[in-house]
Formats: sequence, C-alpha cells, structure tokens
Amino acid sequence: MGKVYHFSKNAVLGTLVLAVTALATIIALSVAYHKERANNQSKPGNGASGTSSTSAPPTTPFTPKVPWDYYRLPKGLKPESYNVTLWPRLKPNSDGLYIFTGNSTVVFRCLKDTDLIIIHANKLNFTTFEGMHAKLSSLHEEAVPALQKSWLTARTEYLVVQLQSKLKAGAMYALHTEFMGELADDLEGFYRSEYLENGLKKIVATSQMQPTYARQAFPCFDEPAMKAIFNITIIHDPDTVALSNGKEKNSLLSVVSGVPVKVTTFEPTEKMSTYLLAFIVSDFISIESSTSNISIRIWARRTAIDNRQGDYALNVTKPILQFYEKYYSSNYPLSKSDQIALPDFNAGAMENWGLVTYRETALLYDPMLSSTGNKERVTTVIAHELAHMWFGNLVTLHWWNDLWLNEGFASYVEYLGADYAEPTWNIKDDIILYDVQKVLAIDALASSHPLSRKEEEVSKPAEISEMFNSISYNKGAAVLRMLSEFLTEPVFARGLSSYLNTFAFKNTVYTDLWDHLQQAVDNTPGLDIPRSVSEIMNRWTLQMGFPVVTVDTQTGTVTQKHFLLDPDSVVGRPSQFNYTWFIPIKWMKNGVDQQQYWLLDKTDTHSSMRVSGEEWVLANTNVSGFFRVNYDLDNWGRLLSQLNTNHQVLSVINRAQIIDDAFSLARAKLINTTLALRTTTYLSRERDYIPWESALRNLDNYVLIFDRTEVYGALQAYLKKQIKPLFEHFRTLTANWTRVPAGHSDQYNQINALRIACGVGVEGCRELIKSWYRQWMENPDHNQIHPNLKSTVYCNAIAFGGVEEWDFAWRMFQTASLASEASRLRSAMACTKTPWLLNRYLEYTLDPTKIRKQDSISTIQYIARNVVGMPLAWNFVRARWSYIFEQYGQGSFSFTNLISGITMRFSTEFELQELKRFKEDNLHVGFGSATLALEQAIEKTTANIKWVNENKAEVFKWFIKETT
Ligand code: BES
Ligand code: ZN
Repeated sequence: MGKVYHFSKNAVLGTLVLAVTALATIIALSVAYHKERANNQSKPGNGASGTSSTSAPPTTPFTPKVPWDYYRLPKGLKPESYNVTLWPRLKPNSDGLYIFTGNSTVVFRCLKDTDLIIIHANKLNFTTFEGMHAKLSSLHEEAVPALQKSWLTARTEYLVVQLQSKLKAGAMYALHTEFMGELADDLEGFYRSEYLENGLKKIVATSQMQPTYARQAFPCFDEPAMKAIFNITIIHDPDTVALSNGKEKNSLLSVVSGVPVKVTTFEPTEKMSTYLLAFIVSDFISIESSTSNISIRIWARRTAIDNRQGDYALNVTKPILQFYEKYYSSNYPLSKSDQIALPDFNAGAMENWGLVTYRETALLYDPMLSSTGNKERVTTVIAHELAHMWFGNLVTLHWWNDLWLNEGFASYVEYLGADYAEPTWNIKDDIILYDVQKVLAIDALASSHPLSRKEEEVSKPAEISEMFNSISYNKGAAVLRMLSEFLTEPVFARGLSSYLNTFAFKNTVYTDLWDHLQQAVDNTPGLDIPRSVSEIMNRWTLQMGFPVVTVDTQTGTVTQKHFLLDPDSVVGRPSQFNYTWFIPIKWMKNGVDQQQYWLLDKTDTHSSMRVSGEEWVLANTNVSGFFRVNYDLDNWGRLLSQLNTNHQVLSVINRAQIIDDAFSLARAKLINTTLALRTTTYLSRERDYIPWESALRNLDNYVLIFDRTEVYGALQAYLKKQIKPLFEHFRTLTANWTRVPAGHSDQYNQINALRIACGVGVEGCRELIKSWYRQWMENPDHNQIHPNLKSTVYCNAIAFGGVEEWDFAWRMFQTASLASEASRLRSAMACTKTPWLLNRYLEYTLDPTKIRKQDSISTIQYIARNVVGMPLAWNFVRARWSYIFEQYGQGSFSFTNLISGITMRFSTEFELQELKRFKEDNLHVGFGSATLALEQAIEKTTANIKWVNENKAEVFKWFIKETT
C-alpha cells in the first residue's frame, strides 16, 4: 500500500541526492496513504470485468432499483461456514493461461424469508447445473426451494440466484458452486507471482483478498461483518507446499482427474472475515521456532532462506508476539503464525490471520547486505501486521468506513511492538517524522476530510480502496497516540484489553472502543479528563483538520484556530463543531515540565503561561498532541536563542517540531518566512537525526520549488554551510567513513550528512563516492560499500557517471539476490542526469519483464523526483495516460502518488496551464483514484505560484545574507 511516497527510508535516502539534497517532503497534497517506507503500492478497487466504476466517465448517477444493484449485501442471509477446495495450476494450459479451478459450499442461515440469494463473485466462470450457476440444499428435512434462474452482475460483483419459493427465516441452507478463474499476474484475488531460480522460471499461487478480492477466488459473502468458519482444501503438485490460515490437518497423495496431486486440508479457521483469508502454493521452504503454544514459521524462496535472509524476521517475531500478548492482556488467538515473503506483492504486507504475506523487502534481511533502514523496515512491518492479529482480525470493524481505526491503531502500536523487540533504537520517537509531521502537512489542506466516514459514504470497491490513505494511517496513528498520552498508557491498555475480550470473534464500531476506554477511565481514581472520551475524540475524528494553538506569553492568552496551509483557501466542508477542538496541552517553562492544560474553548487565559525576561514557554512537549503551536514574537525569539545557545534543553522531537511548525506557520502566513528559516541556523551545531530530518524535509520543499531558478545557488550555499560540520563530525566519528556510528539514529544521520554534502558539493564527497562505486565496478562480486551508504553512493555515482555506470547498475539489479538491494539500485538508476538514459528507463517501467508490476509506478516517481527526469516523466505519463490508467490505475493508491510525485515542483503559471490541459484532454479516460490527487495538484500549484511570488525575493536575500 502500500505508503505517500512509498519510499523506504532508504530508498528516499538514496534517490534524492540528485535533486539534490533533501528529502522528499510532502506537502504533497497527496492524500495517498503511506508511510515513508517501501514502495508498497496498495490496492485497487475495482476489478469488475465489464463495467468499471472508476474508469467510466461521469454520467448521470445510477439509481439502484433491485437488490443486486446495491453494493451492500442484503441483511437476510448470514454465512456460518464454508468448505472451499481450490486447485491452482502452476503450468499454463494449452491457451497459455494460468488458471485455478475450485468448488465451494457455503452453509448459511436465513434470517428473513427471501427468494433471492445474493453472494459476491467476480471474474469467475461457473460450471452450470441444469443451466444454473449453483445448487441449493437444505440442512433440514424440509424441501428446498427450486432455482428459477441465476446470473452474474459485473458492476456490483454478485452471483444472484432467484428461487421459485422462499427460504424460511431460521432455517439453514447450503449453496454449492463449481468454478474456474484465471491465476493472473494482477496482484489481487488468487494470483500468480513469478521468479527465477537457477535460471528456471518458478510460479507461486498466492492471494490478496483485502479489501474486496476474496470474491475473485470463490463465491462468498465478502463483507467484513460476515464472519464465518472456513474449511479449506488445496490441491497442488506433489512437489509443492500449500499454506492457508489454519494449521495443516493432513496432506495426502492422490489422483484427481487423472493427475497425481497432493490434497492438503487445513484445520477449520476461527470465525473470521473473508478479507483475511490466504491461500498459497509454492516450492518455498521455511525456518521455524516456537513459543510454549505458538509455532512460528518464516517462508521464502529457497535461496533466500538458505542465505539466512529469514533469520531476523524469525528472531523478532517471538518478542513482538509476546509484547502484544501482554499489552492486550490477551493470548495470541491462533496456534500458528506463518509469515511469507513474496516476489510479487502490491502492498507492503497483509495481515491475513495466521498467514501474513509480505513484499520481500519487508520481511527478508541479510546482515551482510541489508542496511539499518532495511532492518527497521522489517521490524516495524512485522510489528504492524502482528498488531492486527488482535486489533482487526480477532475484533473486526463492522465496515470499511471505520478503516482508520484498524490501520491507525496498527500504525500507532507498531512502534510499541518494534520498541520492545529493539529497545536500543529509540524508535518510538520516529512516529513524529513518519506519521505526525507527515500528515499534519496533508490534513492542513482545505480539501482534506475527516478520519471517520459515514457507512453510506463508503460502498463501492473504489470507495473502499480510497480509505487506505494517509489520513487513515498517519492521522489515525497520531490521534490514538494523543489519546493514549492523555489517558496514560496503562489506562489506554486496560480499555483496549476489555474491548478485545468483549468483542472477540465479533465486529464493532469505533464507539465501542470509546466506551471501553471510558470504563477504564471511570475505574481509575485520580485520572481527570475534562470531557468524556467520546466527546473529546469526536472533535478529532468527525471533523477534518487540526488546530493551531497560539500562546501569547505576554498576556497568557491561549487561542485555537483551524490551521490551513493556504490561508486563502476556502473550506467547503462544514463542521458540527465549528472547527474547534478539546486540546490536551502538555507544556514546559524554561525546560521544566508543567501540569497538562486543556484548551476547551476558542480562547482562554492560562496565567501561568505568562512569562517575562529570559523565560520561555514551549507547548506540545513530546509532540503529544496533534496540533501546531504559534507564539508571540518575543517567545519565538527566546526559543530561537535557546536553540542557539543550548539546544539540548529541548528534546529532539521538540526541536524537530519547532522547525516543522515554523515552516508550516510561515506557509500559512502566520509568521514570516525568515523566522522559519531562522529555526535552521542552529543546525550547524545539531547532531541528532530527527531535527535534521525535519529541517531537510522542509528545506527540500524549497529545493523542489527553486531548483530551476537563480535562488538555487544561494540555497545550496546555505545548505553546504550548515551540513559541513555534520559531515566533518561523522567523518571523524567513522574514521573517514570506514565504519558506521553505533547509535541507530546516528546511522541515519550519517547517511543524511553524506547525502546532502555530496548533493551540495562539499569538497571531497563526490570523489569519495565515485571511487567506491568504481571499485565495485571493477570487482562486481565484492561490493565493499557499507549497506547503509549504498543508496547514497549508487545514486551519486550514477548521477555523476554515464552509460557505463548505469548499465552496470542495471546488470546488478537483474542479478541481485536480495530484494532490498534490487530496490536500492532501481531507485538509484533514476538519478542519472542523462536524458536518453532516463527515457529508456521510463520505457522499462511499463515492461513487466524488466520492472515488476508492483514497482512500476514508484519507479516513474523516482524519475520524476530528479530535476532532469521530471519533465521527461511528465511527458511520458501524458503521452500514455490511457494505457497507464488501464494497466495500473484501477483504484490503486500508489497511483495517486504518481500525480503528486510528478507535479510536486509545479510552481509556474505555465505548469498550471499544462496541468489543466492534461485534465481536460483526459476527461474521457478518467483519473480513477488519482482524481482527487489531480485536483490537489492544481490547488497546490496555484498556491505555489502565489507563494513564490510573495516569498522568492525575501528567501533569496536571506540565503545570500547567511552565506556571505
Ligand atoms: N492491511 C494492510 C495492507 C493493505 C493495504 C491491503 C491496502 C489492502 C489495501 C496492512 O496492514 C498494511 O497496512 N500494510 C502496510 C505496511 C504497514 C507497515 C504500514 C503496507 O502495505 O504498506
Ligand atoms: Zn495495517
């Protein structure tokens, strides 16, 4: 889902040098989901063979008339259990197609008399029985209604069975179907993944059901609240292994239709939702360990396991599971935990219950070849998916409109799980960068939307897919963290545990969680919150955006206001709370923590915030709250001088927040741009990663806007001045780059130092990097470059080299034995400044034999990030819009990033016109899930033009002043 820029921290670290320096930021108006991590794209919505709701040009709205016109299932039937047998063929048939066959019997209860059976099915070919798609039987003595007719609906993805008489309320029936489907390479439903081993092509049959693709594997009531028990049987080649959610019950050699096969049956699952099912047939091997009652296995290609790339995942899984068992006070609900790395996978990972699927980059780790960033990625993704085993899988939200709670929750507690497994990393602080700051930038747009949606607003597959966005993930994580902070973690965990135990194997709505947290609050003497949990949280979940809190330290007045990045933008969406919030404010005075204060009105006076002399106030310590803070100018001045005299008095995340708030406030015209720039002057003494990273992201926005203008030289000179001490610091610390620092985040900042320094031309940097790459080219089997530095080195060497450097990278990419190494090279190849190489690379992105489908959109984005590649990518995408849209655009959210990625530099009137023309020219094709991104790109370009007009001269002057 894959995340905004779905870059892994490393990928990002690598790509950008070129564009020079800094990190991608994302004032990206893209609401596209995703954490800065692996290029995980996520998922399509539509898939209907015939009519596609996303691609159709706008027509008059369709009014549903009959039950099968609605996207939601009627409430009259409820599944109890399924017996499903699937037989994927890993060799093509005589037409060259890969297929699967299967049969399924679903036992369901009738709750209301009806003569219609409506069940999801999509892209399946049914065997007919006397002209009917299904056979119906009764589990009682009574006669069963005869079938009158049956048909498939393409738009709503149903199999509909019309009966001659009614099913009776209270009775149970069984519906049997036999069908065939294509095992396509489309990364959804039951699909195939391919890889080479010793020159031989191997096929894996695997699945991705979330959110609406289980219906492509077998007919099912494909809604999360339709929980049932699944009895799965898989037929497969005797030399392959079959996996599913349950434990293997038996696996017997047999002959089916004259073919010798293995028939593997699995123990019945727990009561669960269809979107969490998984079926995999492969010749993968596994390693395993166990706790007292859970057997843990890691599966991957044989060579990956032989090369011990699964060991790290196996090692961290146990502590992470143990952490959650304690945190949730609830045992792991199953008896086994399988996790598998797949060569082709659209998202980053998927929490199928008991059989979690991953991209290879998100599960495999090689101590010799992988970077620290790769390792952290593995830890956090595992922690995220395993968090879902309880929150999401054991207790499931009733409908997709509440997705933010599921994904936001996992995105918050993944930090807790990962911290337990790797306590020395200090990883909990990182949520500020990858969730809080990231989504503060997005949620500040007039076109944002509330976390919570009404059930009726989310019905069709494309609407469901759109829920997997940055607001759900990152804002969800941020507000849950705020909640846990003001309730205190033990109270939060107690409420959670009571919620999980109450609703195990059932479905909930978000208010159920608030109720249980409220009970925990009520049972905690001394814990004082000024309103109920739900009253407080409604402000954060039912209205979009967040407040900027202004503290006037002269008067002690504290006010709040809806924060908008562009003060001239118009908020079209009314709020029942008038855009006011109940705001928990942790704060300090002169470095001393004060008692938490609640701002409950638009404005209030808190006299202890009145200070004088050298005293300063800092609000939102630890960035516990989801809001920005502004001060009177005097207090700003005192905070700046504190930074400049002794910045250590403030925590790393507060240093980062001062910078990030200041840049946003300036963009919103609440403070001067020069005041924001002044928060970066102390950086020449800053050595910590998080503040540097925040500053670089903000300065990177300047880079993107100015890297084609005369301001760029001065900006580079400033960056050079600021980065030099950091570069020297790490050069000394690492004995001239021969080692890496011990601290986890120091390792990231070492990479920043090298990357920026080379980007701005610090003496010696490029030569160093070129020589390392040359050594590797001379001895391709012995890459001596430290894994942490590879992304930066590859990118720079390719940027400053020519076709030889590029072609070498391409060869290494094709033969890489580790996915994250391939991924680094893929991103580095986008760094070349040679137009024909970039154009050739663009062509490769749409050729699945060269670039896997899962990686094509992110590769185009990497190219667009390069200042030379941007116009080429823009032309490329415009010229092939309908093809790209057809092949890659059906509801996938990585697709949203394509538009925001290409347009992020747009800041001229001419570019705005081009963008508008692109929209006009392609109305007949459509933009699918990128529709909103296109609108936002237009909105953002308009705002950029204005910002440049108003700020360019001042910014230019400031950089010159600082560097002469
Ligand atoms: N449930 C999602 C995977 C998913 C996303 C499926 C979108 C279908 C559509 C999974 O739990 C997830 O969030 N995966 C993330 C990784 C995670 C560490 C944030 C992903 O795929 O990027
Ligand atoms: Zn998730």
